[in-house]
Amino acid sequence: MAKKTVKDLDLKDKKVLVRVDFNVPLKDGVITDDTRIKAALPTINYVLENGGKAILFSHLGRVKTEEDKAGKSLAPVAKRLGELLGKEVTFVPETRGEELEAAIANLKDGEVVVVENTRFEDVDGNKESKNDPELGKYWASLGDVFVNDAFGTAHRAHASNVGIASTGIPTVAGFLMEKEIKFIGDAIAEPKRPMVAILGGAKVSDKIGVIKNLIPVADKILIGGGMTYTFYTAKGMTVGDSLVELDKVELAKELLAEAGDKIVLAVDIVTTPEFSNDVPTTVMSGNIPDGIMGLDIGPKTVELFSGILADAKTVIWNGPMGVFELSNFANGTIGVCEAIANLTDATTIIGGGDSAAAAEQLGFADKFSHISTGGGASLELLEGKTLPGLAAINDK
Ligand code: 3PG
Repeated sequence: MAKKTVKDLDLKDKKVLVRVDFNVPLKDGVITDDTRIKAALPTINYVLENGGKAILFSHLGRVKTEEDKAGKSLAPVAKRLGELLGKEVTFVPETRGEELEAAIANLKDGEVVVVENTRFEDVDGNKESKNDPELGKYWASLGDVFVNDAFGTAHRAHASNVGIASTGIPTVAGFLMEKEIKFIGDAIAEPKRPMVAILGGAKVSDKIGVIKNLIPVADKILIGGGMTYTFYTAKGMTVGDSLVELDKVELAKELLAEAGDKIVLAVDIVTTPEFSNDVPTTVMSGNIPDGIMGLDIGPKTVELFSGILADAKTVIWNGPMGVFELSNFANGTIGVCEAIANLTDATTIIGGGDSAAAAEQLGFADKFSHISTGGGASLELLEGKTLPGLAAINDK
């Protein structure tokens, strides 16, 4: 990566502003998945071990009104971070003001402050989300240097990433940002071949940009999940009650024409008359009749996809193959996980969001070379877009 990283900074005695992505799922105030907190530890520990004082910023959820703030404080996240670091973490329940400034002034080398949810600033005119220059300037004034490790937020131009960086404060990438960009960026820019992309999920509309960007790059693009039925419709097949985006059928035709035999569609489908785990399923090839819907790729498709994956040297996967949350429709996603788990000499990357959750729930998480912590950010990177948070980091 041609960007400066935290290793390019002298951190001794410095007040180090660190933007992390602690946007973690919470249920009744309890964190249900702390992956993103753990993923930020290498950078935070590096700052502390090298004599810096860490001042951490993150958003949590979406906040537009005073009422939205309920349940979105970073207090539980700061507590969990303290447990993971094995040291006291000071949480400041505000995003600006005297208490925050005093906490930072009192920080000693090796100590940590977590600032309240940056999106609490959105209640008063979307200052964080609209990158209000005054807010970015104020936060930048609290530190000496800025480390952006929030890959998951890199597709947003917020005051707490782009705004702080734009003030001219020395801005570098953290280790997580560096790792994410290296894995996903290299897989697209210089893939070991054959390079196979696996795209699933419900909607073609979510993946158009990714498919377009990957057609010239990938050797094969395997398509599963709910997207299948829009492509089936584009090929003149009937899909019964399956999910279809009728306004995307023409586009699906164009993508099929452009990709030639690079796009590989499912050859059989697990169907059901009801969106439920409690009714019998039928595997079908070809047209799907009315009254029936497809919810997973079938066993012949798993075999076909596994055969193509067997030679792959680079695999990028985004989007589950079926409704994996229901066990009747999980076999397609499990089959693809197994095919990837068998690869011994390939770089295998899974995008954030649903597909990462699927790999984790199904017990395959440790079989991938890299599981991205970014949902939208990893998709936008796969689309070939410039991520504003990344662009704002100083070049080497
Ligand atoms: C994410 O979870 O994808 C990031 O934290 C960004 O969150 P957002 O979609 O609310 O901007």
